[in-house]
Amino acid sequence: MKFTFKELRSSLLVPSISDHSVVQNLTAVSKGFTSQRSKIKEYVMDREMVSAYTLFYLPSNIPKLEFVFDMLSDDVKESIKSSTIVDLGTGPGTFAFALDEYFDGDVEVVGVDTSELMVEQAQKINECLYKNQKISFRSTMPKSFKGETLLLGHSLNEMGIEKLMDLVKLHAPENLIIIEPGTSAMFTEVLKLREQMRELGFQCAFPCANIESKCPVQKKIEEGQEDWCHQVLRMTHEVDFERLSQIAKLDRKTMPLIAHVYTKTNLKGPKRARMVRFLRESKFSFDWEVCFESEGELKMATFEVLKKTLSKKEVKSLQKISVGIDFDYEIMKEINSGHFKVKLL
Ligand SMILES: C[S@@+](CC[C@H](N)C(=O)[O-])C[C@H]1O[C@@H](n2cnc3c(N)ncnc32)[C@H](O)[C@@H]1O
Repeated sequence: MKFTFKELRSSLLVPSISDHSVVQNLTAVSKGFTSQRSKIKEYVMDREMVSAYTLFYLPSNIPKLEFVFDMLSDDVKESIKSSTIVDLGTGPGTFAFALDEYFDGDVEVVGVDTSELMVEQAQKINECLYKNQKISFRSTMPKSFKGETLLLGHSLNEMGIEKLMDLVKLHAPENLIIIEPGTSAMFTEVLKLREQMRELGFQCAFPCANIESKCPVQKKIEEGQEDWCHQVLRMTHEVDFERLSQIAKLDRKTMPLIAHVYTKTNLKGPKRARMVRFLRESKFSFDWEVCFESEGELKMATFEVLKKTLSKKEVKSLQKISVGIDFDYEIMKEINSGHFKVKLL
Protein backbone atom coordinates (compact mmCIF):
# COMPACT_ATOMS: atom_id res chain seq x y z
CA MET A 1 0.00 0.00 0.00
CA LYS A 2 1.13 3.56 -0.70
CA PHE A 3 0.83 4.61 2.95
CA THR A 4 1.67 3.44 6.45
CA PHE A 5 -0.94 3.02 9.14
CA LYS A 6 0.51 6.08 10.90
CA GLU A 7 0.18 8.21 7.76
CA LEU A 8 -3.43 7.09 7.35
CA ARG A 9 -4.15 8.17 10.95
CA SER A 10 -2.90 11.68 10.25
CA SER A 11 -5.18 11.89 7.19
CA LEU A 12 -8.37 11.15 9.13
CA LEU A 13 -11.12 13.76 9.64
CA VAL A 14 -10.26 13.40 13.35
CA PRO A 15 -6.52 12.59 13.43
CA SER A 16 -6.51 12.73 17.24
CA ILE A 17 -9.16 9.99 17.61
CA SER A 18 -8.28 7.69 20.52
CA ASP A 19 -7.97 3.91 20.19
CA HIS A 20 -10.84 3.62 22.64
CA SER A 21 -13.14 5.69 20.42
CA VAL A 22 -11.99 3.79 17.31
CA VAL A 23 -12.90 0.48 18.93
CA GLN A 24 -16.25 1.74 20.27
CA ASN A 25 -17.19 3.10 16.87
CA LEU A 26 -16.06 -0.04 15.04
CA THR A 27 -18.16 -2.21 17.31
CA ALA A 28 -21.20 -0.06 16.54
CA VAL A 29 -20.45 -0.09 12.79
CA SER A 30 -19.92 -3.85 12.63
CA LYS A 31 -23.15 -4.47 14.58
CA GLY A 32 -24.93 -2.23 12.07
CA PHE A 33 -23.45 -4.28 9.21
CA THR A 34 -24.39 -7.63 10.60
CA SER A 35 -27.71 -7.18 12.34
CA GLN A 36 -29.32 -3.75 12.58
CA ARG A 37 -29.92 -2.96 8.92
CA SER A 38 -32.09 0.05 9.79
CA LYS A 39 -29.18 1.65 11.70
CA ILE A 40 -26.61 0.97 8.99
CA LYS A 41 -26.62 4.57 7.73
CA GLU A 42 -25.69 6.14 11.09
CA TYR A 43 -22.00 5.44 10.66
CA VAL A 44 -21.65 8.02 7.90
CA MET A 45 -23.04 10.91 9.94
CA ASP A 46 -20.38 11.51 12.55
CA ARG A 47 -16.73 12.63 12.09
CA GLU A 48 -15.33 10.16 14.65
CA MET A 49 -17.37 7.31 13.18
CA VAL A 50 -16.13 8.08 9.65
CA SER A 51 -12.55 8.28 10.97
CA ALA A 52 -12.85 4.92 12.75
CA TYR A 53 -14.40 3.31 9.65
CA THR A 54 -11.61 4.71 7.47
CA LEU A 55 -8.77 3.67 9.77
CA PHE A 56 -9.96 0.08 9.91
CA TYR A 57 -11.78 -0.71 6.68
CA LEU A 58 -9.76 1.28 4.14
CA PRO A 59 -6.48 -0.68 4.61
CA SER A 60 -8.21 -4.03 4.95
CA ASN A 61 -10.61 -3.58 2.01
CA ILE A 62 -8.03 -2.26 -0.48
CA PRO A 63 -6.30 -5.69 -0.93
CA LYS A 64 -9.61 -7.29 -1.92
CA LEU A 65 -9.50 -5.51 -5.28
CA GLU A 66 -6.01 -6.80 -6.09
CA PHE A 67 -7.12 -10.34 -5.23
CA VAL A 68 -10.08 -10.11 -7.63
CA PHE A 69 -8.30 -8.21 -10.43
CA ASP A 70 -5.41 -10.71 -10.47
CA MET A 71 -7.94 -13.30 -11.64
CA LEU A 72 -9.31 -11.24 -14.54
CA SER A 73 -8.07 -11.68 -18.09
CA ASP A 74 -5.86 -8.97 -19.61
CA ASP A 75 -8.67 -7.98 -22.01
CA VAL A 76 -11.10 -7.31 -19.18
CA LYS A 77 -8.46 -5.45 -17.15
CA GLU A 78 -7.63 -3.30 -20.18
CA SER A 79 -11.32 -2.53 -20.75
CA ILE A 80 -11.61 -1.42 -17.11
CA LYS A 81 -8.38 0.57 -17.12
CA SER A 82 -9.26 2.46 -20.30
CA SER A 83 -12.72 3.40 -19.03
CA THR A 84 -13.91 5.96 -16.50
CA ILE A 85 -14.71 4.05 -13.33
CA VAL A 86 -17.43 5.16 -10.97
CA ASP A 87 -16.90 3.78 -7.46
CA LEU A 88 -20.46 4.09 -6.17
CA GLY A 89 -20.73 4.24 -2.37
CA THR A 90 -17.02 4.98 -2.30
CA GLY A 91 -16.99 5.78 1.45
CA PRO A 92 -13.49 7.11 2.26
CA GLY A 93 -12.44 6.29 -1.33
CA THR A 94 -11.51 2.67 -0.58
CA PHE A 95 -11.78 1.16 -4.05
CA ALA A 96 -10.90 4.39 -5.87
CA PHE A 97 -7.52 4.20 -4.11
CA ALA A 98 -7.33 0.43 -4.61
CA LEU A 99 -7.65 1.11 -8.36
CA ASP A 100 -4.92 3.75 -8.13
CA GLU A 101 -2.66 1.18 -6.46
CA TYR A 102 -3.50 -1.58 -8.96
CA PHE A 103 -2.99 0.55 -12.09
CA ASP A 104 -0.12 2.61 -10.66
CA GLY A 105 -2.03 5.88 -10.67
CA ASP A 106 -2.92 5.59 -14.37
CA VAL A 107 -6.69 5.32 -14.01
CA GLU A 108 -9.63 7.72 -14.01
CA VAL A 109 -12.01 7.21 -11.09
CA VAL A 110 -14.99 9.16 -9.82
CA GLY A 111 -15.90 8.21 -6.25
CA VAL A 112 -19.58 8.88 -5.51
CA ASP A 113 -21.10 8.91 -2.03
CA THR A 114 -24.29 10.46 -0.66
CA SER A 115 -22.52 11.15 2.64
CA GLU A 116 -20.82 14.56 2.61
CA LEU A 117 -18.52 13.45 5.43
CA MET A 118 -17.32 10.41 3.48
CA VAL A 119 -16.64 12.61 0.43
CA GLU A 120 -14.71 15.07 2.63
CA GLN A 121 -12.72 12.16 4.13
CA ALA A 122 -11.94 10.67 0.70
CA GLN A 123 -10.78 14.06 -0.62
CA LYS A 124 -8.49 14.52 2.39
CA ILE A 125 -6.87 11.12 1.83
CA ASN A 126 -6.31 11.92 -1.84
CA GLU A 127 -4.72 15.27 -0.95
CA CYS A 128 -2.49 13.80 1.77
CA LEU A 129 -1.57 10.31 0.51
CA TYR A 130 -2.31 9.73 -3.19
CA LYS A 131 -2.22 13.14 -4.88
CA ASN A 132 -3.93 11.60 -7.92
CA GLN A 133 -5.63 14.29 -10.00
CA LYS A 134 -7.42 11.65 -12.07
CA ILE A 135 -9.41 10.68 -8.97
CA SER A 136 -12.28 12.90 -7.87
CA PHE A 137 -15.13 12.60 -5.38
CA ARG A 138 -18.69 13.88 -5.46
CA SER A 139 -22.16 13.20 -4.07
CA THR A 140 -24.05 12.43 -7.31
CA MET A 141 -23.50 10.26 -10.38
CA PRO A 142 -21.83 12.10 -13.29
CA LYS A 143 -24.53 12.76 -15.92
CA SER A 144 -22.36 11.82 -18.91
CA PHE A 145 -21.48 8.39 -17.45
CA LYS A 146 -22.33 5.83 -20.19
CA GLY A 147 -20.70 2.62 -21.39
CA GLU A 148 -17.91 2.74 -18.76
CA THR A 149 -17.20 0.77 -15.54
CA LEU A 150 -19.40 0.76 -12.46
CA LEU A 151 -17.95 -0.56 -9.19
CA LEU A 152 -19.73 -1.10 -5.88
CA GLY A 153 -17.78 -2.06 -2.77
CA HIS A 154 -19.78 -2.92 0.35
CA SER A 155 -22.52 -0.56 -0.79
CA LEU A 156 -24.87 -2.96 -2.61
CA ASN A 157 -25.90 -4.10 0.85
CA GLU A 158 -27.30 -0.63 1.53
CA MET A 159 -28.48 0.16 -1.98
CA GLY A 160 -30.25 -3.07 -2.92
CA ILE A 161 -30.37 -4.96 -6.22
CA GLU A 162 -33.38 -3.08 -7.62
CA LYS A 163 -31.64 0.29 -7.40
CA LEU A 164 -28.46 -1.19 -8.89
CA MET A 165 -30.35 -2.69 -11.84
CA ASP A 166 -32.00 0.70 -12.51
CA LEU A 167 -28.51 2.22 -12.62
CA VAL A 168 -27.23 -0.52 -14.93
CA LYS A 169 -30.12 0.12 -17.33
CA LEU A 170 -29.59 3.90 -17.15
CA HIS A 171 -25.79 3.99 -17.50
CA ALA A 172 -25.31 0.82 -19.62
CA PRO A 173 -21.83 0.08 -18.22
CA GLU A 174 -19.33 -2.02 -20.15
CA ASN A 175 -18.19 -3.57 -16.85
CA LEU A 176 -19.86 -4.02 -13.47
CA ILE A 177 -17.78 -4.98 -10.44
CA ILE A 178 -19.20 -5.75 -7.02
CA ILE A 179 -17.14 -6.57 -3.94
CA GLU A 180 -19.37 -7.32 -0.96
CA PRO A 181 -19.31 -9.18 2.38
CA GLY A 182 -19.07 -12.98 2.03
CA THR A 183 -22.39 -13.78 3.70
CA SER A 184 -25.18 -16.17 2.69
CA ALA A 185 -27.66 -13.24 2.66
CA MET A 186 -25.49 -11.41 0.13
CA PHE A 187 -25.17 -14.57 -1.99
CA THR A 188 -28.98 -14.73 -2.30
CA GLU A 189 -28.91 -11.16 -3.65
CA VAL A 190 -26.02 -11.89 -5.97
CA LEU A 191 -27.89 -14.83 -7.52
CA LYS A 192 -30.62 -12.36 -8.54
CA LEU A 193 -27.97 -10.03 -9.93
CA ARG A 194 -26.35 -12.87 -11.94
CA GLU A 195 -29.68 -13.77 -13.52
CA GLN A 196 -30.53 -10.18 -14.45
CA MET A 197 -27.05 -9.48 -15.85
CA ARG A 198 -27.32 -12.64 -17.99
CA GLU A 199 -30.66 -11.41 -19.36
CA LEU A 200 -28.99 -8.09 -20.27
CA GLY A 201 -26.35 -9.97 -22.32
CA PHE A 202 -23.36 -9.66 -19.96
CA GLN A 203 -20.65 -12.30 -19.55
CA CYS A 204 -19.30 -13.21 -16.13
CA ALA A 205 -15.55 -12.50 -15.92
CA PHE A 206 -15.42 -13.63 -12.28
CA PRO A 207 -16.18 -16.05 -10.63
CA CYS A 208 -18.47 -18.11 -12.94
CA ALA A 209 -16.94 -19.87 -15.95
CA ASN A 210 -20.32 -19.96 -17.66
CA ILE A 211 -23.19 -17.55 -16.98
CA GLU A 212 -25.63 -19.49 -19.20
CA SER A 213 -25.46 -22.54 -16.93
CA LYS A 214 -27.39 -22.53 -13.66
CA CYS A 215 -25.20 -21.91 -10.60
CA PRO A 216 -24.56 -25.34 -8.99
CA VAL A 217 -24.61 -23.80 -5.50
CA GLN A 218 -28.09 -22.44 -6.27
CA LYS A 219 -29.13 -26.02 -7.19
CA LYS A 220 -27.83 -27.23 -3.81
CA ILE A 221 -29.80 -24.50 -1.99
CA GLU A 222 -32.97 -25.46 -3.90
CA GLU A 223 -32.42 -29.06 -2.78
CA GLY A 224 -32.47 -27.84 0.84
CA GLN A 225 -28.74 -27.69 1.56
CA GLU A 226 -27.27 -24.64 3.30
CA ASP A 227 -24.47 -23.24 1.15
CA TRP A 228 -23.22 -20.08 -0.48
CA CYS A 229 -20.44 -19.37 -2.97
CA HIS A 230 -17.90 -16.88 -1.69
CA GLN A 231 -14.19 -16.24 -1.64
CA VAL A 232 -11.89 -16.04 1.37
CA LEU A 233 -8.88 -13.73 1.25
CA ARG A 234 -6.12 -14.76 3.64
CA MET A 235 -3.52 -12.14 4.41
CA THR A 236 -1.31 -10.42 6.99
CA HIS A 237 -1.32 -6.70 7.86
CA GLU A 238 1.00 -4.10 9.42
CA VAL A 239 1.68 -4.67 13.15
CA ASP A 240 -0.22 -1.54 14.29
CA PHE A 241 -3.23 -2.62 12.27
CA GLU A 242 -3.11 -6.18 13.65
CA ARG A 243 -3.06 -4.73 17.18
CA LEU A 244 -6.16 -2.64 16.47
CA SER A 245 -8.02 -5.58 14.95
CA GLN A 246 -7.21 -7.67 18.04
CA ILE A 247 -8.53 -4.98 20.41
CA ALA A 248 -11.65 -4.55 18.30
CA LYS A 249 -12.03 -8.36 18.06
CA LEU A 250 -12.51 -8.09 14.31
CA ASP A 251 -10.49 -10.63 12.35
CA ARG A 252 -9.03 -9.28 9.11
CA LYS A 253 -6.51 -12.06 8.46
CA THR A 254 -9.27 -14.20 6.98
CA MET A 255 -11.75 -12.11 5.05
CA PRO A 256 -14.80 -13.74 3.42
CA LEU A 257 -16.05 -11.76 0.42
CA ILE A 258 -18.37 -12.11 -2.54
CA ALA A 259 -16.96 -10.54 -5.68
CA HIS A 260 -18.57 -10.69 -9.12
CA VAL A 261 -17.37 -9.05 -12.33
CA TYR A 262 -19.68 -8.75 -15.35
CA THR A 263 -18.54 -7.49 -18.72
CA LYS A 264 -19.61 -6.91 -22.30
CA THR A 265 -16.02 -7.61 -23.38
CA ASN A 266 -15.69 -10.82 -25.38
CA LEU A 267 -14.12 -13.38 -23.03
CA LYS A 268 -11.41 -15.45 -24.70
CA GLY A 269 -9.11 -18.20 -23.49
CA PRO A 270 -9.68 -21.54 -21.75
CA LYS A 271 -12.15 -21.80 -18.87
CA ARG A 272 -10.44 -22.82 -15.68
CA ALA A 273 -11.79 -24.60 -12.62
CA ARG A 274 -12.45 -22.49 -9.53
CA MET A 275 -11.77 -23.55 -5.95
CA VAL A 276 -14.84 -22.59 -3.93
CA ARG A 277 -14.01 -24.23 -0.59
CA PHE A 278 -10.90 -25.50 1.15
CA LEU A 279 -12.10 -28.85 2.59
CA ARG A 280 -8.99 -30.28 4.26
CA GLU A 281 -5.29 -30.98 3.98
CA SER A 282 -4.21 -34.62 4.44
CA LYS A 283 -0.81 -36.30 4.26
CA PHE A 284 -1.43 -37.01 0.56
CA SER A 285 -3.53 -34.19 -0.81
CA PHE A 286 -5.27 -30.83 -0.55
CA ASP A 287 -8.99 -31.47 -0.89
CA TRP A 288 -10.93 -28.63 -2.47
CA GLU A 289 -14.55 -28.17 -3.44
CA VAL A 290 -14.41 -26.96 -7.00
CA CYS A 291 -16.80 -25.41 -9.54
CA PHE A 292 -15.92 -26.35 -13.13
CA GLU A 293 -17.43 -26.54 -16.59
CA SER A 294 -18.14 -29.93 -18.11
CA GLU A 295 -20.12 -30.37 -21.35
CA GLY A 296 -21.35 -26.77 -21.17
CA GLU A 297 -22.69 -27.13 -17.61
CA LEU A 298 -21.24 -25.84 -14.35
CA LYS A 299 -20.71 -28.65 -11.85
CA MET A 300 -19.36 -29.03 -8.33
CA ALA A 301 -16.90 -31.74 -7.34
CA THR A 302 -14.24 -32.59 -4.81
CA PHE A 303 -10.73 -32.36 -6.25
CA GLU A 304 -7.90 -34.06 -4.39
CA VAL A 305 -4.80 -32.12 -5.45
CA LEU A 306 -2.14 -34.80 -5.05
CA LYS A 307 0.90 -33.69 -3.07
CA LYS A 308 3.18 -36.10 -4.92
CA THR A 309 2.64 -33.95 -8.03
CA LEU A 310 3.74 -30.77 -6.18
CA SER A 311 7.13 -29.39 -5.16
CA LYS A 312 7.78 -28.52 -1.47
CA LYS A 313 7.48 -24.83 -2.37
CA GLU A 314 4.13 -25.42 -4.06
CA VAL A 315 2.84 -27.35 -1.02
CA LYS A 316 3.81 -24.42 1.22
CA SER A 317 2.11 -21.90 -1.02
CA LEU A 318 -1.10 -24.00 -1.27
CA GLN A 319 -1.26 -24.08 2.55
CA LYS A 320 -1.69 -20.30 2.51
CA ILE A 321 -3.89 -20.03 -0.56
CA SER A 322 -7.00 -17.82 -0.62
CA VAL A 323 -10.33 -19.40 -1.52
CA GLY A 324 -11.61 -18.37 -4.95
CA ILE A 325 -8.53 -18.92 -7.11
CA ASP A 326 -8.86 -20.50 -10.54
CA PHE A 327 -6.52 -23.10 -12.00
CA ASP A 328 -5.84 -25.55 -14.85
CA TYR A 329 -5.74 -29.23 -13.99
CA GLU A 330 -5.36 -32.74 -15.33
CA ILE A 331 -7.53 -35.58 -13.95
CA MET A 332 -5.31 -38.43 -12.68
CA LYS A 333 -8.15 -40.64 -11.46
CA GLU A 334 -11.96 -40.41 -11.36
CA ILE A 335 -13.20 -41.84 -8.05
CA ASN A 336 -16.83 -41.08 -9.01
CA SER A 337 -18.61 -38.37 -11.03
CA GLY A 338 -18.19 -35.88 -8.16
CA HIS A 339 -14.74 -36.82 -6.89
CA PHE A 340 -11.41 -36.71 -8.74
CA LYS A 341 -7.71 -37.01 -8.00
CA VAL A 342 -5.99 -34.23 -9.95
CA LYS A 343 -2.68 -32.60 -10.72
CA LEU A 344 -2.37 -28.81 -11.16
CA LEU A 345 -0.97 -27.62 -14.50
C1 LIG B 1 -20.07 0.28 3.86
S1 LIG B 1 -19.67 1.76 3.10
C2 LIG B 1 -18.49 1.21 1.93
C3 LIG B 1 -17.43 2.19 1.66
C4 LIG B 1 -16.34 1.69 0.73
N1 LIG B 1 -16.85 1.39 -0.59
C5 LIG B 1 -15.64 0.49 1.33
O1 LIG B 1 -15.83 -0.62 0.83
O2 LIG B 1 -14.87 0.64 2.28
C6 LIG B 1 -21.08 2.13 2.09
C7 LIG B 1 -21.10 3.55 1.55
O3 LIG B 1 -22.14 3.62 0.57
C8 LIG B 1 -22.74 4.91 0.65
N2 LIG B 1 -24.06 4.81 0.01
C9 LIG B 1 -25.14 4.08 0.40
N3 LIG B 1 -26.14 4.21 -0.47
C10 LIG B 1 -25.69 5.04 -1.45
C11 LIG B 1 -26.26 5.56 -2.66
N4 LIG B 1 -27.50 5.26 -3.02
N5 LIG B 1 -25.52 6.38 -3.44
C12 LIG B 1 -24.23 6.68 -3.07
N6 LIG B 1 -23.65 6.23 -1.94
C13 LIG B 1 -24.36 5.42 -1.15
C14 LIG B 1 -22.77 5.20 2.15
O4 LIG B 1 -22.85 6.58 2.41
C15 LIG B 1 -21.42 4.60 2.60
O5 LIG B 1 -20.40 5.56 2.62
